[in-house]
Amino acid sequence: MEMEKLVALCKRRGFLFPSSEIYGGLNGFWDYGPLGVELKRNIREAWWHDMVTAHNEWEVPPGAPSAYAMVGLESTIIMHPQVWKCSGHYDLFCDLMVDCRESKRRYRYDQVYGRWVECRGQKIFVATEALGQEAEQDTLQKALRFFNLRSKEAEELARLSPVQPLRQVENLQQVLGPDAKTLGTLTPPRLFNLMFETYVGPVQDEASKSFLRPETAQGIFVNFKNVLDSSRVKIPFGIAQIGKSFRNEITPRYFTFRSREFEQMEIEFFCHPSTSRAWYEYWRNRRFQWYVDLGLSSERLRLREHAPEELSHYSCGTADIEYAFPFLPPGEFGELEGIAHRGDFDLRSHMEGKLVRQGDQLVLELDAEGKPRYRGSGRDLTYFDDETREKYIPHVVEPSAGADRAALAFLCEAYAEDEAPDEHGIPQKRVVLRLHPRLAPIKAAVFPLVKKDGMPEIAREIYAELKPHWNVFYDEKGAVGRRYRRQDEIGTPYCITVDGQTLQDGTVTIRDRDTLRQWRVHQKDIVSQLKDLLR
Ligand code: GAP
Repeated sequence: MEMEKLVALCKRRGFLFPSSEIYGGLNGFWDYGPLGVELKRNIREAWWHDMVTAHNEWEVPPGAPSAYAMVGLESTIIMHPQVWKCSGHYDLFCDLMVDCRESKRRYRYDQVYGRWVECRGQKIFVATEALGQEAEQDTLQKALRFFNLRSKEAEELARLSPVQPLRQVENLQQVLGPDAKTLGTLTPPRLFNLMFETYVGPVQDEASKSFLRPETAQGIFVNFKNVLDSSRVKIPFGIAQIGKSFRNEITPRYFTFRSREFEQMEIEFFCHPSTSRAWYEYWRNRRFQWYVDLGLSSERLRLREHAPEELSHYSCGTADIEYAFPFLPPGEFGELEGIAHRGDFDLRSHMEGKLVRQGDQLVLELDAEGKPRYRGSGRDLTYFDDETREKYIPHVVEPSAGADRAALAFLCEAYAEDEAPDEHGIPQKRVVLRLHPRLAPIKAAVFPLVKKDGMPEIAREIYAELKPHWNVFYDEKGAVGRRYRRQDEIGTPYCITVDGQTLQDGTVTIRDRDTLRQWRVHQKDIVSQLKDLLR
């Protein structure tokens, strides 16, 4: 699947638009159009339903160490600044970046690649932001331009290395920046905090500085005690939250994959330390299966356990659910969701203050005077088990998903091109989104075969009957074959057509988007039939 085709479809049919497009757009920000908003709502609702409301706290789900409860939360986007100091985001939520003095562009240090080339005795490193095959082409073109060579003179250029990360280059004076014409324009790497800053109240000073949350998770940790005290939940239990997060990504890219404003669907699952490893394994598998059940094919989806050196400073185990997005070079995968075993790091941080790892211990970070670098809340966030009389700090397992990345993966997986017969039975090329019916923006379309003989009236009657149950669409314009194709292209699983036979026996045809099978159903049975089909 070529990504350009999906991007064009998303724009043409109203799934996704660049934010503030009439002013030229804003890099890293995207708006969901009329169909996109339905798709994303369906993803959020499927997640909330499957993880929270449909969860039965009396049953032990397959693979779970025991039964457990799930509740929800909606915390604010702007929180007390101390939250981010204790969580570590204030000091550590940074990327290394390099600036180009010539092009004035800024790049993520770990996302610049390049290769060594030599011509007429001069050895330079040609940098690029492209990957794989594209990086080969891009560096070659840039090197030719730099040395003033024409394509047919390419043999004068010696390629001294394969494409490699900029990180491996010691002398930046020899580097030709990704958008530069001269050498040595890249600055040494510097840390850049990804949190968006804002001010609370009328005075803009250090004391009123606050942040747009870069994750929803912290809102859950700081409400742990509130939830415990206000509901009947007992450990083990999970708190779920869906909401916007903001990161000032240095290089937003790949459509919505890396945006600056995006939506997360996070669970913080609190459990006894002795069972936390088993819960980690449960959530890892449970979350993987969720994507499979909603239609992501298992050969493009994988569960990747992090190597010890990849783990965050607080984590004793993390796995990523990754998808082979079509914009990535062959063999590369992009993260859809991370499942992290976070130990007691978060609750302890919000009790005691910012923690650092010392050997295999987490200890309070101290400043030059031996005082806590960032003080915690001082609140007691321990848990008392009144059956065992044990008091402990719960461990946390965190499945953290991105709603926008999930939407993008479902769209990429669903996009297909095949052939379907038109109204004369002649095969025609069609674009089809094979979205899972739970995710499809429109569940069914209703058509009168022709705009006469009372067919539109019956079709509108059916439309009115279906509307209270689902998002359905009525269309009477153009040839019926074209109407089918317009619905296929946006993933509508079923089309219902009123035709001549309807006038005689009250039956309509239902057409299946994927199999193209058509069958007749009596008008009075359409709702129950669709209920079965969409279940
Ligand atoms: N609380 C843990 C946490 O936030 P993360 O791996 O940084 O972990 C979790 O983010 C998920 O949020 C990612 O797997 C991804 O789906 C989504 N996400 C993160 N950054 C994103 C971005 N810039 N654009 C879109 N989605 C993003």
